[in-house]
Amino acid sequence: MHIDPLEKKWMYVVGFITVVMIASMTYAAVVMNLNPPSNVETIDPKTLHLSGEFTEDNLGVTQNPDGSYTVRMIAARYAFYPTQIELPADTDITFRITSPDVLHGVHVPFTNMSTMVVPGYVSEVTTRFTKTGDFQFLCNDYCGLGHDYMWSRLKVTPKT
Ligand code: CUA
Repeated sequence: MHIDPLEKKWMYVVGFITVVMIASMTYAAVVMNLNPPSNVETIDPKTLHLSGEFTEDNLGVTQNPDGSYTVRMIAARYAFYPTQIELPADTDITFRITSPDVLHGVHVPFTNMSTMVVPGYVSEVTTRFTKTGDFQFLCNDYCGLGHDYMWSRLKVTPKT
């Protein structure tokens, strides 16, 4: 079979790009621990405020008996509630976030905390913050006219 030399060159280029992409995904998953959330947990978005885990009194930071923390949050147009949270560095933190209205995204810049928040589902992410300081919870999925203003504060304090 005849293959044009120029075409052959491009086949090598495509093969090389494919290898680089697979290697970088493997590196991100194995070394940097960047993985898509694997749990599927459903919840009725219409009754979040009435009963169950995501009522107003249950939102925020809770310390677990093993020293880790659980943070329950609501992502709604146009903020994350509670709007300000404080967490210790170098500690396992499990975020549980859901939405009563539309699709949102959560991203904390310069960390591996990032997930989509889909109405009807609970997004769970476990992470550790290694740097202290003030960070922002940003919405990174377009959710309406107030999307650009949808953010909350996160303060990471030294572990005591
Ligand atoms: Cu919420 Cu964009």
